[in-house]
Amino acid sequence: MEIAILDNADKAAARAAEHIAQALAARPALVLGLATGRTMEAVYRHLVRIHRETGLDFSRCRTFNLDEYLGLGPDHPGSYHRYMEEHLFRHVNLRPGNTHLPDGAAPDPEAECRDYERRIREAGGIDLQLLGLGVTGHIGFNEPPAPFDAPTRVVDLDPRTRAQNAGVFPGGFDAVPRRALTMGVGTILAARSCLLLVTGASKAPILQDVLRGPASPAVPASALQRHPRCLVLADPDAAWGAGG
Ligand code: GLP
Repeated sequence: MEIAILDNADKAAARAAEHIAQALAARPALVLGLATGRTMEAVYRHLVRIHRETGLDFSRCRTFNLDEYLGLGPDHPGSYHRYMEEHLFRHVNLRPGNTHLPDGAAPDPEAECRDYERRIREAGGIDLQLLGLGVTGHIGFNEPPAPFDAPTRVVDLDPRTRAQNAGVFPGGFDAVPRRALTMGVGTILAARSCLLLVTGASKAPILQDVLRGPASPAVPASALQRHPRCLVLADPDAAWGAGG
């Protein structure tokens, strides 16, 4: 893993956006894996800015998001479909048919997971996967313990994850679904390159485990130690804890 610590959270997000923009400029038909969460909002803000300033072209890019809550349709305010529309899709020239998220409202979620894996394969695999880090050590929604060879699957969410994400649900914690569809750690490791962005002091202890601890299903993101091309971007708070 290559690790870069930027001056602050906004600079780390800007660097992540520049990394994505460079990959897309070099390969216009990039297959881009996308992530959600508060950390990513700044990345998409910078990516939209770069698109407006430079005309960065998304028309041939295909995207696959990591995950979606089980039971939520695309119009639900807490859904990652809605998040992606608001933060990226409606602001750039991605073609609607080229953006993919697991369907949280699919009648047969297991079949939807198999189909999602097939769609990624048929796109030629993911070139660059953007990742955030959950306080439980999750990537996507792979809560511990997460087998490193898992494909896209249905998972139970850790109560800490549900609490962390409760803010966007009008009904709070109790309204956060208990399960989700997520790319597995195996799906993520199969991406040709990964970009993990971690900011904020609340992530400092788990980031240490991810980077310095043994690669273990108990810390799902530690699987990235085994990835041959993984860039980790962090701000000083995440890298060293609040106060440096
Ligand atoms: C959710 C997403 C993860 C993301 C995590 C971090 O749980 N499923 O992919 O990494 O949030 O969220 P935040 O950036 O809000 O801390």
